[in-house]
Amino acid sequence: MLNFNFFMPTNIHFGQDKLKETGKIAKLYGKRAFIVTGKKSARKFGFLQTLENSLKEEKIEPFFFEKVEPNPSIKTVENGASLFKEKKCDVIIALGGGSALDAGKAIGVLATNQGPIQNFFGKNKVKNPIPPLIAIPTTSGTGSEVTPYAVITDVKENNHQKKILSDPHIFPKEALVDPNLTFSLSAEVTSDTGIDALSHAIESYVSRRSFPLSESIALQAIEIIGKYLPKLINSPKNAEARSQLMYASMLAGIAIAQTGTTLLHAMGYRLTSDLGLPHGRANGVLFPYFWEANFSGNPEKFSRIIGYLDESAGESQKKNASESALLLKEFLYRVGLPRDLNIKTNEETIVQFAKEVMENKKKMASNPKILNMDEVVDIYKKALQC
Ligand SMILES: [Fe+2]
Repeated sequence: MLNFNFFMPTNIHFGQDKLKETGKIAKLYGKRAFIVTGKKSARKFGFLQTLENSLKEEKIEPFFFEKVEPNPSIKTVENGASLFKEKKCDVIIALGGGSALDAGKAIGVLATNQGPIQNFFGKNKVKNPIPPLIAIPTTSGTGSEVTPYAVITDVKENNHQKKILSDPHIFPKEALVDPNLTFSLSAEVTSDTGIDALSHAIESYVSRRSFPLSESIALQAIEIIGKYLPKLINSPKNAEARSQLMYASMLAGIAIAQTGTTLLHAMGYRLTSDLGLPHGRANGVLFPYFWEANFSGNPEKFSRIIGYLDESAGESQKKNASESALLLKEFLYRVGLPRDLNIKTNEETIVQFAKEVMENKKKMASNPKILNMDEVVDIYKKALQC
């Protein structure tokens, strides 16, 4: 018997030049807009100028907070929230990659709830609705424009921990999804973010929390990424491929908003916080070994996925854990995952990572298969060649 809950309250505006419509949409929410964005690209590529023009046309006053770093810190979020309150803004516009969007959500939380932000890490801890949030992604990766998640980094000496804030209150009110904003992305960022979107789609599809509606959305995302990400890597200015990738990363975001991710994301976080790998690349490095270890948890689903990533895959390859993992690895190389990462680590560090992952009961419960400590250590060791 079917039994599920599907909640997606974000109003999505998808298409080229949607950035120019920001003013009209922001007008619904007030007169003073607080713009949360990164330190360089959005200004350099002219997105902030387009945004400012659009706001001014509607007589909305913009306040720019161009301070978000990759993997945004608690300090950045606190500073942003203070400025939001000081300037008495009505609406938050977060423009950028996942970091800017997540920072925008967390700033929103502190704008209407008594801090510190650490009080809201975890699930469903936010009491008051956040100010209206308009999310404008500039990468095709996180899908944060349609999720109730924000990942914030708790910076401590020698120990940067990724903390997740998950709450329906932080779903953006509006998502302006404009593929034009991804045309200038470097090949490296296109690859890293594309692999992140692929991991969202696959993790959601194979998650034990998946259900037919989430599965159909995730599978569509997998199909599109399988078809268009290799094309985009070969021809970065391909407009159709840019548009399809942005659509697919949004779909994957809608899917994980329902099911969450799995152990792959939990494992990848430490490679980012401790070893400095970009988020999507961290997932990509672990992915083939994660795949092989989990294959027996749902062979039908894993076999079906490979058909979308490699049309020439034979039936016996699709049905075999290690052969299909190899096909996934080849796909990841085709879409830009570096073959040699030259990561320096040791067994002690890996065991520490694995211990922490084993404590993540939620992600383990979503995983296609319940893994033991040795299996998690083994995935890390193989991926990091340690
Ligand atoms: Fe991700």
